[in-house]
Amino acid sequence: MANTSLMDKIVSLAKRRGFIFQSSEIYGGLGSVWDYGPLGVELKRNLKERWWRSMVYEREDIEGIDAAILMHPRVWEASGHVAGFTDPLVDCKQCKNRFRADDPRLKGTPGEPDAQCPVCGSKGTLTAPRLFNLMFKTFMGPVEDSAAVVYLRPETAQGIYVNYLNVLQASRQKIPFGIAQIGKAFRNEITPGNFTFRTREFEQMEMQFFVKPGEDERWFEEWRAARMQWHKDLGIAAEKLRFHRHGKDELAHYAKDAYDVEYEFPFGWQEFEGIHNRTDFDLSRHQEYSGKKLDYLDPATNEKFVPYIIETSLGADRLALVVLVDAYREEEVEGEQRVVLRFQPSIAPIKVGIFPLVRKDGMPELAHRIADGLRGRLTIFYDEGGSIGRRYRRQDEAGTPFGVTVDGQSVQDQTVTVRHRDTLKQDRVAADRLLEYLRSQLSG
Ligand code: GAP
Repeated sequence: MANTSLMDKIVSLAKRRGFIFQSSEIYGGLGSVWDYGPLGVELKRNLKERWWRSMVYEREDIEGIDAAILMHPRVWEASGHVAGFTDPLVDCKQCKNRFRADDPRLKGTPGEPDAQCPVCGSKGTLTAPRLFNLMFKTFMGPVEDSAAVVYLRPETAQGIYVNYLNVLQASRQKIPFGIAQIGKAFRNEITPGNFTFRTREFEQMEMQFFVKPGEDERWFEEWRAARMQWHKDLGIAAEKLRFHRHGKDELAHYAKDAYDVEYEFPFGWQEFEGIHNRTDFDLSRHQEYSGKKLDYLDPATNEKFVPYIIETSLGADRLALVVLVDAYREEEVEGEQRVVLRFQPSIAPIKVGIFPLVRKDGMPELAHRIADGLRGRLTIFYDEGGSIGRRYRRQDEAGTPFGVTVDGQSVQDQTVTVRHRDTLKQDRVAADRLLEYLRSQLSG
């Protein structure tokens, strides 16, 4: 299967089955902004909940917050984003298209007569590269002047740094400790694309771990290993995961060391999580720009220091794309082709499909009673339309791990069959023990 066509198939399935739609599609769409449909929203919620559980509920040294998207404009001066969050861009004066200066399609040297526009083919019409800031700007209050400019945050991390002392004092944590947050971020990306891989509005799941200087390298290694294990535990194919360590020329202005967690997408190996040793850069800068002391007094040693920060930064949308791509299979079963999403059951949007074998002989009534008993406890989908084979296939495509069929025997003895999506194995289970059975399968 050609790689491009695999991506096309996934995009088409995502739309057809209600995972992901293009934003404002009836108006022709908005570039690189996407909406999640009924199945997509469940998948993403399950991923976010799993991340939150592993960070906040299962550890005693991490607290959660939910900071606002809009922040004081000085935050972005302190963070380095106003000065440095830029891409060099080149404009074509002829066709008005805009390109990143490192776009491999550009021929010659932009700004010189030999340079050629890759879209209209004109020569000598490309401007010399100019820096373009990726932050979205908006205006606060009724007057659209520069005094009221605020930015849509390009990362959630800064909301954690500026709240670090508040959280420390309110939670009575001691260093080392962390703060986790899930929220939207915005970047006016110049070359977005590859479906939801690079978008202008996205969600991040970031955790900032505050440590004593000198202990940073140990914590960095600890978090690096923990994050890779987390992805493997999610069922992502281990051979499609790897680390990429940033070379000196790739390191962000704040980082002493950084690794990307990469996945092998159909369009190549790409980052979906970053683990960064940000040193004391962020807190020192906020201390300098705000004039407020952000150092920590170690109660055990009476030492004062500005903590170092180890950051784990995962894109919720990118993780959802990894999981979709990784789960997608085309298989032949029982002499027929099927498309199946082999999600780990715990993250599947719908856990159980419920099907009366035929629409008579008391089967729909019993199936409805079973559905009513499960609804609100597990995500279910009731379906009595079409052949049973077609109904199974529809749920395979949605990634539903279990199919409950009510047949003639069910009406006699109150048992049902449970079909397993991946093995196609069928178990017969008493209807009144079904919830217990499904729960044991989901936690296994
Ligand atoms: N606070 C550090 C930070 O934001 P980053 O490497 O720029 O680091 C971290 O972003 C993660 O956020 C990426 O690994 C990716 O999953 C996600 N991300 C960044 N830009 C994105 C975009 N334009 N579209 C979708 N996800 C994005």
